[in-house]
Amino acid sequence: MSHFSLDIENIYPFIPQQSIGEMADKTNKALEQIHAKTGPGDDFLGWVDLPGQISDKDISQILETANRMGNLADTFVITGIGGSYLGARAVIEALSPYFPSRDHKSPEIIYAGHHLSGDYLAELLSYLEGKNFGIVVISKSGTTTEPAVTFRFLKNLLEKQVGADGAARRIIAITDAHKGALRTLAGREGYQCFVIPDNVGGRYSVLTPVGLIPIALAGLPVEELVAGACEMEEEASLPFNQNASARYAAARYLLYREGKKVEILANYEPRLHFFSEWWKQLFGESEGKDHKGIFPASIELTTDLHSLGQYIQDGERHLFETVISIKNPVHHPVIPEVPENLDNLNYIAGKELDFVNKQAELGTRMAHVDGGVPNIRIEIDRADAQHLGQLIYFFEKACAISGYLLGINPFNQPGVEAYKRNMFMLLGKPGYEGKK
Ligand code: PA5
Repeated sequence: MSHFSLDIENIYPFIPQQSIGEMADKTNKALEQIHAKTGPGDDFLGWVDLPGQISDKDISQILETANRMGNLADTFVITGIGGSYLGARAVIEALSPYFPSRDHKSPEIIYAGHHLSGDYLAELLSYLEGKNFGIVVISKSGTTTEPAVTFRFLKNLLEKQVGADGAARRIIAITDAHKGALRTLAGREGYQCFVIPDNVGGRYSVLTPVGLIPIALAGLPVEELVAGACEMEEEASLPFNQNASARYAAARYLLYREGKKVEILANYEPRLHFFSEWWKQLFGESEGKDHKGIFPASIELTTDLHSLGQYIQDGERHLFETVISIKNPVHHPVIPEVPENLDNLNYIAGKELDFVNKQAELGTRMAHVDGGVPNIRIEIDRADAQHLGQLIYFFEKACAISGYLLGINPFNQPGVEAYKRNMFMLLGKPGYEGKK
């Protein structure tokens, strides 16, 4: 059963109720620009109708590749950074069991190339020694330092273990169709290649091979993920009044105008940790421009009530909270009755732990709203591939609308270049002398 709902009732103590309706025209205009591909960054709107364009043939090719690789290796190192890894990790971690099951052995998925820690790399290389591993190297530009330098180490190890031909069979490259160092390298070495479409930016690429190949390698149902995204693609193209994604964008815009400059994405299920990381990149890199934009933050509850709860309840009042709530958990452990009741917990004996989690959610929402933190709530039926597909497209569309409401181009990231210029200058990269 599919269930996806948006509740913005708890923003009304902070903004007049009629103001959401007043956003209809402006938001519909943003929707029109997105659909007609006429707004800022219109050459990066390939994601808009992407889910519906993914064919059975595309899915089969992805599954065949995953199957072939699964016969060659049992550990895969996903090598990429930012939009070239967060979407895959978000989905894989949300859909995988917390602890590996004894009877069902899924391939092991490891992430690399998302920082420059030599300690991490050295320990990863020694962990991979003697292991039957494969590599998926992902970079749209094909020149990003973190994954490129990491891949150099991984490729060396793999070639040492299985020879150059064996390594080439165990490596997949996902990059631009024509340009970049990774494209050249992959062509020369004969790696199987998948293309990141020109008109889809990194943080919007989870439903391209960038996300779908690693997700398929992890043995997860890519077709259900795409089906969920297709459902939301349809719903999120409706006019404002019937469009939850547009209403979410309008609600957060109104809150921003009221001085709520930080949005905290909260979950009550730690399997969504990397979903929040993906969401933070999506909104942060898209909106943070021209000295504007909501700062995207995230918390895991109830864990962070014991660390950040005090600030959220009582600190600077520039926050609002968006909760992703999962209606039905996978498991239903019931709290046991203990005759001695020494821990005084018999008052909740017989209840499912999820019932306690849900009461914690409700109690926290009431407390935060009372404390001055507006609350938006998104509820999904369960954390499965279909609902994750819905959530992904829901946020992608909302982010694009939000960017247009703010009057910025949500699809570029000029600010990311500043650190690179300095780093290359300091490293002595040819062409960057004196560029600080
Ligand atoms: O969203 C984006 O465009 C960025 O986060 C990129 O995905 C990230 O910088 C990695 O770039 P690339 O895929 O070119 O290696």
